[in-house]
Amino acid sequence: MDCFRIEGGEELSGSVAASGSKNASLPILAASLLLEGEADFQRVPELRDVSTLLELLRDLGAEVDACAGRVRVRCGAQGPTEAPYAVVRRMRASVCVLGPLLARRGRARVALPGGCVLGVRPIDLHLKGMEALGATVTVEHGTVVAEAPPGGLRGGRVRLASERGSTVLGTANVLMAACLARGTSLLEAAAVEPEVTALARYLNACGARISGVGGPRLEVEGVDGLRARPLRMPPDRIESGTLLLAGAITGGAVRVEGCAPSELTALLELLAESGVPLRSGEDWAETGRWSGRPRALGLTTRPYPGFPTDLQAQWMAFSAVCEGQATIRDSIYPERFVHVAELLRMGARIHHEGGTARVEGPAPLQGAEVLASDLRASAALVLAGLAARGTTLVRRVYHLDRGYEGLEAKLSGLGGRVERRLDPDSP
Ligand code: EPU
Repeated sequence: MDCFRIEGGEELSGSVAASGSKNASLPILAASLLLEGEADFQRVPELRDVSTLLELLRDLGAEVDACAGRVRVRCGAQGPTEAPYAVVRRMRASVCVLGPLLARRGRARVALPGGCVLGVRPIDLHLKGMEALGATVTVEHGTVVAEAPPGGLRGGRVRLASERGSTVLGTANVLMAACLARGTSLLEAAAVEPEVTALARYLNACGARISGVGGPRLEVEGVDGLRARPLRMPPDRIESGTLLLAGAITGGAVRVEGCAPSELTALLELLAESGVPLRSGEDWAETGRWSGRPRALGLTTRPYPGFPTDLQAQWMAFSAVCEGQATIRDSIYPERFVHVAELLRMGARIHHEGGTARVEGPAPLQGAEVLASDLRASAALVLAGLAARGTTLVRRVYHLDRGYEGLEAKLSGLGGRVERRLDPDSP
């Protein structure tokens, strides 16, 4: 098992390129199950989650050719319809083959994802959406068994939100299914995250008829077929935000090229308000050197365009070195605080109770051996390691490899002292 060895205390500086978006790539790659002809995707991030999805597509009978960020996929209308637990438990996003399989092949068996460190994470809204399109859905021995009615799915109306907000992958899943349903579907309280918008635009480019793209009310007029089109994946807003926070936490000048600052408004505004010098253009953003220590600012994570839950842990690491007190709440995943215990080991001062953490800064962070336990928590530990005095060993970086493409190379390119090693203590 690999670990990262980080020698902290270097001020990062320089420029780094944003990678393609993981959370846009996963549903868009799943959408290739709906398409006739060969889909040709560029700037697909080379990540473990992407390989898992490609493996699942192959198991579902797709021809997949992946090399250096270019992925070509060809899927027939006939083929297997099962996503087994062995795959789904490795990656929850596997669930987004449900809609495409049901729409194109008439049935799907998809293992029910269990809980994860973020909490219970149900998929009831995905299932409700499939039922609204006429599917029969049952859960048998931990597997969702869904069947389209004779003649295929038909248009329906569904609300895609729980009290925690709209579901991102649920919206993607139902949207993909609705594209091939007979008649018109109405998706209300749909997620408006940029990844959903990217999917909807791509589906429309392939011949779908989705209106209201970018908003919470999507109207889908079903079509008989969709034809594959080439696509360059959009940049990863969470990776870009993490890299900017790497600049901010070390007091350095880091420029992220090829990103989408318009999708990072909540982070950029907060960084600027905390006193980090910030500049951005259409497709770049950069942090500047601190003139004084930034001020700690609290936040509550919210659905887009609010502050993303996927940057909450990294913001907490940054808050630990800021002046003052920050109260951080996660309204999307109130249990997403596994990083707190590890940040405490590095000398952060954090009081955590329920879905809220109070960070007291500035704390002189110290290098320590820490354990990564989920993707974004791991990123927070890497950021803390960059700002800490001494050596930090971040263990189990396979979590990071699920969602950050070549993070150690990117940080090293900015002057960070980050090395990937074989963990001497791993089994
Ligand atoms: N929810 C329900 N019922 C459902 C679905 C969701 O109650 O059927 C609840 C969830 O429990 C949660 C909230 O609704 O409290 C939002 O969950 P959502 O369904 O939007 O999450 P997701 O689609 O499974 C995606 C990202 C996550 C990101 C969330 C929230 C992908 C592959 N995953 O998950 O990304 O945190 O949206 O923005 O797109 C990550 O990249 O590290 C990551 C976890």
